Amino acid sequence: MTRFKTALTLVAAAGLALGSVTAQARDFRLGLITPPAHIWTQAATDFAQELRDQSHGQHRVSVFPSQQLGNEAQMVQQLQTGALDMAFLTIAEISNRVPDFGALYAPYLVEDIDQAAALLQSDAASRLLDQLPGSVGVVGIGYGMAGMRQVLSRTAVEGPGDLKGKKLRITPFEPIRDFYTALGSAPTPLPLPGVYDALANGQVDAIDMDFDSILVLKFYERANHLLLSNHMMFPMVGVVSGRVWRELGNDDKALIQGLMKAQLDKVIEQFRQQERDQEQQLRDLNIQIVEADRATFADAIQRWEATWSSKAKALDGLRRAAQDIKGS
Ligand code: BEZ
Repeated sequence: MTRFKTALTLVAAAGLALGSVTAQARDFRLGLITPPAHIWTQAATDFAQELRDQSHGQHRVSVFPSQQLGNEAQMVQQLQTGALDMAFLTIAEISNRVPDFGALYAPYLVEDIDQAAALLQSDAASRLLDQLPGSVGVVGIGYGMAGMRQVLSRTAVEGPGDLKGKKLRITPFEPIRDFYTALGSAPTPLPLPGVYDALANGQVDAIDMDFDSILVLKFYERANHLLLSNHMMFPMVGVVSGRVWRELGNDDKALIQGLMKAQLDKVIEQFRQQERDQEQQLRDLNIQIVEADRATFADAIQRWEATWSSKAKALDGLRRAAQDIKGS
């Protein structure tokens, strides 16, 4: 009888132990809008592999690129309910919900990709992430980025003035909409996966885009006039659903945080390293390039500031951080 009881106790203990392993093991889903070949998607895939390896197969991450789970607004809703576990998001949808993030899109806040990288890795930018759990219901692990923004047009452009009245594709978010409205263009919000066709069928005259996407997604096949303006940086943020985060133990949180942050830092470094080379690749193609600087956008910037300096309270702090970076 005693031996029987002991055996039962052992079976129960084994069951409990097994149960607790099963309860902790997770199949996470990570969504993003970029196609499989994009650096962001590759970083998400590398994160999935690392998490699987470092958790000894306990945790898995399925990556869903190209808006397979919906656009960013839909993904944010899924993150809020816990239907989606993780995402790499442009700041666009986040800034629609938390206007302070619009400060990251201030025109000419930084002058080049090196300054963009340094600003996104500054304390001033990190502090913005503290707002995410309360305002959006997600935990911000860190920033990535794409390249500096340029304008690619189907017709000749000698300067920002030529963008007046043009249907200009933008990523769907308010700060960039306000910038092009101030410029006199007709901003046309369109997520990245729809851009090639919109250029091909004439739905838009020009697009707001970075060197990498112009090359990788071959937008230069459909528009061959580049206004090389470097007018904005383009941050990305790696997030985990707040609901999912609360269910995780401290070790898992630390593991996910460390591995995701390492991939986000790698994305920043890759864009920083390739920017000049990609500019040269575009110069070597059969496209017309005109350079534009801050002064040529002065009126539009003034109008943008009139709206956003009061709307995005973080702007002053970010500007100070950007000045420190420029001076260092
Ligand atoms: C865009 O909307 O232009 C974009 C989104 C993600 C990565 C690069 C570009």
